[in-house]
Amino acid sequence: MADTSKPTTNTKLATWVDEMTALCKPDEVVWADGSQEEYDRLCQLMVDGGAYVRLNPEKRPNSYLARSHPSDVGRVEDRTFICSTNKEDAGPTNNWAPPDEMRRTLTGLFDGCMRGRTMYVIPFSMGPLGSPIAKIGIQITDSAYVVTNMRIMTRMGKAVLDTLGEDGFFIPCMHSVGAPLEPGQTDVAWPCEADINRKYIVHFPQTYEIWSYGSGYGGNALLGKKCLALRIASVMARDEGWLAEHMLIMGLEAPDGERTYLGAAFPSACGKTNLAMLVPPDAFDGWQVRTVGDDIAWIKRLPDGEIRAINPEAGFFGVAPGTNEKTNPNAMATITANCIFTNTALTDDGDVWWEGMTEEPPAHLIDWKGLDWTPDCGRPAAHPNARFTAPAHQCPSIDPEWENPDGVPISAFVFGGRMSQDMPLVYQAFNWGHGVYLGATMGSEATAAAIGQTATRRDPMAMLPFCGYNMADYFTHWLNFGRLAANPPRIFRVNWFRKDENGKFIWPGFGENMRVLKWVVDRVHGRGYAVESPIGWMPRHEDMDWEGLDFPADKFYELMAVGRAAGTSEAHAHEAQFDKFFDRLPKEFIFERELLRSRLWRSPERWALAHEDTVRQPVS
Ligand code: GTP
Ligand code: SPV
Ligand code: MN
Repeated sequence: MADTSKPTTNTKLATWVDEMTALCKPDEVVWADGSQEEYDRLCQLMVDGGAYVRLNPEKRPNSYLARSHPSDVGRVEDRTFICSTNKEDAGPTNNWAPPDEMRRTLTGLFDGCMRGRTMYVIPFSMGPLGSPIAKIGIQITDSAYVVTNMRIMTRMGKAVLDTLGEDGFFIPCMHSVGAPLEPGQTDVAWPCEADINRKYIVHFPQTYEIWSYGSGYGGNALLGKKCLALRIASVMARDEGWLAEHMLIMGLEAPDGERTYLGAAFPSACGKTNLAMLVPPDAFDGWQVRTVGDDIAWIKRLPDGEIRAINPEAGFFGVAPGTNEKTNPNAMATITANCIFTNTALTDDGDVWWEGMTEEPPAHLIDWKGLDWTPDCGRPAAHPNARFTAPAHQCPSIDPEWENPDGVPISAFVFGGRMSQDMPLVYQAFNWGHGVYLGATMGSEATAAAIGQTATRRDPMAMLPFCGYNMADYFTHWLNFGRLAANPPRIFRVNWFRKDENGKFIWPGFGENMRVLKWVVDRVHGRGYAVESPIGWMPRHEDMDWEGLDFPADKFYELMAVGRAAGTSEAHAHEAQFDKFFDRLPKEFIFERELLRSRLWRSPERWALAHEDTVRQPVS
């Protein structure tokens, strides 16, 4: 018999919600419909509870500042688990626990965890509703912060249930902040589990399920994003023959109308949002950059071998600090209204502020913890991982094709880490297999996006925290994916973060990255010039467009220089990285490493490419 108390005819969904209600024991169950009225009501609820501050409607219409608990400010990688039956299927880079043991732990934690709270049921679609690439998820949560953010980040609400129908497939996403209320107990503004060892971000790859307990922040709690669209989707992608990647998608339109799309993978807080929304320098008159996505790409190979990608998200959850009119004017325009800011500072006139937003900090602020702040107080005003949640359609550079259910055609992949030494500005892989190797061996220095990360680490394809299965199998999947493509995307490595001996960035970055992208586009279309080097194809100074920027050749070669010793020790480090994967590692990687070592063996001690008639020009 149809259950008329629920807005769905999907019996699997209705049964699951009943089971979860019995387990979590909330006071009330609310199905989110995704309406503006519901959003406004929940934001008001958060204002009344003290977690949200309504911003000055004249400065930032229909926008809020959210302050999290000071302990709940980023992803918790140590508490993130991939619970496959066999430990080897999670691989050496993921935390693993036996699935039945983890289920027992979770059942214990979730039992009664929503007492005194409202349980929300959020139907959402990752990808345009009804797209052949899209996937439906249902998140259960006791956090109104999550409901309001999910409304911006995904296609959410009633229409999703209509698309799901009676027997449609969905990914169950269970979430609780882990703070039940005893009768009469007053709530806190940002409830969460304060003990990090009682937080759990758990994935069951074999049953495509997600369980998240104890955190209300970002990727820990907005389960459509990292948990579904990367960790679970990467497993589905392996099973179904596609790729789910931590990549921005952008289009570059030349003055003659030629449009080239690329996907670029950078680790968290390393510049995807900036690059996706890049505004070219004045000298690039007539060039247009179009944004498709800033964080996640789902990439399919069509039967004819064409590679196409969609952005499964509907919003941006972008790093706020450092964002300003110079570094990212399109982001600044995107966040003028209808946004949620988390852990930024509050100005005296009811607007937001963060480090780097303006050259001069305001004389007084309320900091991200809600305390008085002055420029001389010695504390940051915004948390380094403070974020804005903004609707993608508000972005001035959004691509007209961004919601095309069939995606956009991809001609290149770019991999970039944060490396202050030894890694050149840009070079191109010799071929697909070599390119996959370059992505797999990418290193990057620590950022604030994950709690506890302090050192440089290997972050293959920027997917280290997001791959839902053994990364050795993931490398093999990548190799096969390109082999079956009609014309595999060209692969590039970039690094905006090289520093000089004074610790200053050598490369101006941001809009100037357009110069690198133009070389990439030229290479993709077979017209850009490059010289072969031991590590890949490299541009010389004269191969790049310098109009409007004084960037002399010697500085360029400082940026591009590679040392034999550094290169060789890098190859050595790859060996240590790969040892962990034992015999699961694709054989090609062993050969690629040995080829790299052989090529480096005969190279000068320190070199860059210069002068048309010289292949390798030693530099001092
Ligand atoms: P997630 O959302 O965490 O996945 O990261 P993201 O890659 O989208 O990060 P985002 O674009 O927000 O990265 C922001 C950081 O990168 C800030 O510290 C920026 O200052 C820095 N950044 C971005 N582009 C450049 C650049 O071209 N040069 C330099 N030096 N820094 C850059
Ligand atoms: C990242 O850390 O890569 C993010 C932010 O994009 S979060 O959604 O919090 O994971
Ligand atoms: Mn990310």
